[in-house]
Amino acid sequence: MRLDKLLCDLGEGTRKEVTLRIRRGAVTVDGVTVTRPETKVDPETAVLTFDGLPVVYSKYVYIMMNKAAGEICAIRDPKLPTVVSRLPEKLRRRGLFPAGRLDRDAEGLLLLTNDGDAAHMLLSPARHVEKTYFVRYDGTLAPDAEARFRNGIAIPADDGDPACVCMPAELIRAGEQEARVKVTEGRYHQVKRMIAAVGGHVTYLRRETFGPLTLDADLRPGAYRELLREEITQIEEIKRKTRRQT
Ligand code: URA
Repeated sequence: MRLDKLLCDLGEGTRKEVTLRIRRGAVTVDGVTVTRPETKVDPETAVLTFDGLPVVYSKYVYIMMNKAAGEICAIRDPKLPTVVSRLPEKLRRRGLFPAGRLDRDAEGLLLLTNDGDAAHMLLSPARHVEKTYFVRYDGTLAPDAEARFRNGIAIPADDGDPACVCMPAELIRAGEQEARVKVTEGRYHQVKRMIAAVGGHVTYLRRETFGPLTLDADLRPGAYRELLREEITQIEEIKRKTRRQT
């Protein structure tokens, strides 16, 4: 792979910026200064520095974010703040996108990645990846709400999403007017509609788990971090299993 393209893909700058810096001698490959941007390097084995700092190669980036209320799950938007616009330029250059959606007023666990296969595997309706949501609600839930969730609850149509019967889900009351909901689908406003179907009105919603990932309690709304090695390993493991099945 060309050196300028590699550094650019790793978010070190635009192609133009990177080319200029290479020509000025800011980059070493395996300990030797390289000034030709077109030099071919093996990203897996080359030891790179840029401005004297090591550049670590990773094909994919995985970011765990605690989405803040008020931001939308999109890459960019002409009017509204997006979850991607919160990231620094170096990460944005890596082509990250949100794997899935949370409502604008929702908080909680969101994975941002440039790994299309992982996103597909986590979001595919056929895979039934489990998600847990913590909710606060107004109103009183029906006494048989748990059983109705377990048996597959009917929810009305909402903004183009047709009325349907949900797959079996779990409702766990967590306190006064608080509950956790575990679902294996990702329908539009699903949890809000499920709670509404048993007499409540969701006033706060936070996603706590998404497949193998659990929201890091140290991340305040709006904060993010890279996935830990063991979290990436779990995603890689699911990808491997999925590949074996197909
Ligand atoms: N269910 C909802 O109602 N909203 C979300 O953001 C996610 C699940």
